[in-house]
Amino acid sequence: MKPVIVIKDLWVHYNHVWALREVNLVCEENSITSIVGPNGGGKTTLLRTILGLKKPDRGSVEVLGEKPGALERPWEMGYLPQLMHVERNYPVSALDVVCFGLYKKLGIFRRPGKKEKTAALNALALVGMEQHVNEHFGALSGGQQQRVNIARAMVGKPRLLVMDEPSTGIDIVAQEDFYELLVRLKKEDGISIIMVSHDIGVVTSYVDQVACLNHRLHFHGSPMEINDSVLKDTFGSAFHVILHDQSCATCRLKHQNEL
Ligand SMILES: Nc1ncnc2c1ncn2[C@@H]1O[C@H](COP(=O)(O)OP(=O)(O)OP(=O)(O)O)[C@@H](O)[C@H]1O
Ligand SMILES: [Mg+2]
Repeated sequence: MKPVIVIKDLWVHYNHVWALREVNLVCEENSITSIVGPNGGGKTTLLRTILGLKKPDRGSVEVLGEKPGALERPWEMGYLPQLMHVERNYPVSALDVVCFGLYKKLGIFRRPGKKEKTAALNALALVGMEQHVNEHFGALSGGQQQRVNIARAMVGKPRLLVMDEPSTGIDIVAQEDFYELLVRLKKEDGISIIMVSHDIGVVTSYVDQVACLNHRLHFHGSPMEINDSVLKDTFGSAFHVILHDQSCATCRLKHQNEL
């Protein structure tokens, strides 16, 4: 299987302060990778480098076999940013917002037709928003808006889906549905996914690879191999915050092993 992302000895700085140091990471095709780590640890910077929005200061990044930012078929990559600001009064419906996710393929001058609208409706149904298709986006709750944003990132059936804290604002029940949806997208549509996540306890049950990032990669590999010492190393003094979550993760993994 070909890797979809190959990162070699990546270093990135802002104003002479290193945000990423010596990062080496490979994401295989048809896999889900989750990046975890403390605030300010460089997770968004890593995603922005993968997207070609931030250039490496040292090392190399290869995405879908090409240089990021210069993809021949840019629609093969879907992106959900950490903060997506849509002006609340901007007169767009949930369906319009999802259709925006098709513009890379469509070109900005073509209006979405029947085929695109059907794809957008399907994507909204996948995230449980079929009841809100024609509602004003600005009038939806934060969690509902986030679901629409997720539908927008995945509507074009990209080969690689890049998401920065996609489960933010989504309630706990919907979170499990969301991760199950990602596993389905991987299995049925062959989509590869890399995402930042703070819910370590949940995420480890669904992903193939976890990358623990705090400027450096402290660990990358199967979620089964994560232990307290890896997390202590990554999170440092913030470790106690995630201790409970991690113990849940350990319980889940033990439970899975016993099945
Ligand atoms: N545009 C920028 N200009 C200057 N410094 C930046 C910029 N973006 C990020 N940084 C710095 O780089 C470091 C990593 O930031 P980054 O946003 O990648 O962290 P993160 O892991 O995504 O954090 P969070 O969990 O809070 O989203 C931080 O110290 C941050 O202050
Ligand atoms: Mg971030």
